[in-house]
Amino acid sequence: MKLSNILIYTFAFSQCSSTILPQRIFQLSPSTTSYSHSLFDDLISYFYPSSTQQDDFEAWLVQEKIISFEGIFNNIGGLSKILDPTIVEKGVVIASPSTSYPNYFYQWIRDLAITIKTLLCHLNDMTQDEFEQQGQLLDVIESFIENNYQLQRLDNLSGTFADKSGLGEPKFNVDNTVFNESWGRPQRDGPGLRSSTIMYYLKLIDKFNAPIQSQILKNQKFIYFKVIRPDLMYIVQNWQKPGFDLWEEINSIHFFTSITQLKAIKDGIEFAAKYKDYELQDQLITAFQQLKLAIESQQQFGFTSSVISHIIECPNLYKIGHRSGLDAATLLGSIHSHDDYQSDSSMIPFDIDNPYVINTLVAMVNDMKFRYPINHNKIGLLGVGVGIGRYPEDIYDGVHTSEGNPWFISTATALELVYRLIHKYITLRQDIVITAANRGFFSQFISIDEEPNDGNAVVIEFNSVMYRTLMLQLALYADSFLSVIKTHVDGEGRMSEQFNKYTGYMQGAKELTWSYSAFWNAVRWRERTLQVM
Ligand code: NOJ
Ligand code: NOJ
Repeated sequence: MKLSNILIYTFAFSQCSSTILPQRIFQLSPSTTSYSHSLFDDLISYFYPSSTQQDDFEAWLVQEKIISFEGIFNNIGGLSKILDPTIVEKGVVIASPSTSYPNYFYQWIRDLAITIKTLLCHLNDMTQDEFEQQGQLLDVIESFIENNYQLQRLDNLSGTFADKSGLGEPKFNVDNTVFNESWGRPQRDGPGLRSSTIMYYLKLIDKFNAPIQSQILKNQKFIYFKVIRPDLMYIVQNWQKPGFDLWEEINSIHFFTSITQLKAIKDGIEFAAKYKDYELQDQLITAFQQLKLAIESQQQFGFTSSVISHIIECPNLYKIGHRSGLDAATLLGSIHSHDDYQSDSSMIPFDIDNPYVINTLVAMVNDMKFRYPINHNKIGLLGVGVGIGRYPEDIYDGVHTSEGNPWFISTATALELVYRLIHKYITLRQDIVITAANRGFFSQFISIDEEPNDGNAVVIEFNSVMYRTLMLQLALYADSFLSVIKTHVDGEGRMSEQFNKYTGYMQGAKELTWSYSAFWNAVRWRERTLQVM
């Protein structure tokens, strides 16, 4: 294949708004010789041509990243220029400023753990000097930990602190009091997400050699024993039990809950060892082994099955034929349970390059391309992103139940996943090994002559022409999800929860903190990935 042909195809593909897109990018041939870096640079500049259109896109991206970061700040007490500090205390993270239709003016443990993690990633990317200027942000993050120290100890409709059952409470009022109305409770993902975020903060503090500022929290040891440890105990005691999912609808065993619990246990083992908390460490090690087995086993939790290529979010509903099992929650579970390649990727299953995970993305796109009318112009196109919703059977419209729509969180997660996939391949200098298990994903971008089966994999060598070209195609694929988001934010760049499947206009809770967090995370991964490409 001549390079010029690749360039032409790539160029055609990058004009995503035009309708003619190649179905097959190039034939897979054994000629995978490497070529010089300057040629690769040429390819990149072709891939991101400095056309006005491309410049506009990049300029929008820079702007939208700032808007999303401000959107997060605006929803956190002590950082917000909008929230009334007498109503929303420092460190309180509201899900959205919307107080009616729907009322999201509460703190959900899941949303706040995920959002604070975004702020921590922002801090993590700083230089020592930059970090040292962040006193106010660190102060608010520590207030968030103080608040959660309090929230953990409030008896509530999920239970008590004494036996830890109360830690499954999903949401609290913005003044740090309990929410006493009926709700889908308990939700067992909160303690894992929260403790993982707080453990990440402690690692960050170590990395930058900074002290704990809060008089209440005193030091890292206090935070471990008083805040992290109760959450870890909750997981040890409850991981086998059903609870409501992250979408707050189904009382069962859920992939998102289990995999994020596993990540917290893994982090927890390290911290328990650090603080010589051997009793809990032993329990965590046992729980880790058992939960990992349950997650991987088709017989136990049943998140996978030999007759289906994607992850099954809620096996109980799948078994009775109520749901396909397809769910953005599984993609979210994968990204939120894997932070690093050293330990998470090897110890926690279902990282972003796992065939079940990437097949989930393929199946979600294939379903939602047809399901949502705004995606219909992409029917017939391969390797092009669309607006992604929570799960096919969803009927929550953001206020009531009628019909489901695409969500910013799900669409941003798809884009983050693809960028992380590229980043992992390149950083670990891995060949792309195409087997029957992941063929569905890669065949969107290349035509594979041979029918790979497990004994007969097609290997695309690291750094070969074909490898680099495929990586660029994947980046384009990821960016096509970004274009969807660009189309549906409003004129000020704001993001609600959903965008209407017929009209494309936003609906549901306005200025959703988690939408901004998911978008910001995805753009961060885009930047990190383009740096290594
Ligand atoms: C509100 C929940 O937060 C949302 O996730 C759910 O779909 C609806 N309630 C269902 O009624
Ligand atoms: C509804 C979503 O389903 C749930 O996941 C989220 O925690 C709340 N809204 C608050 O954003």
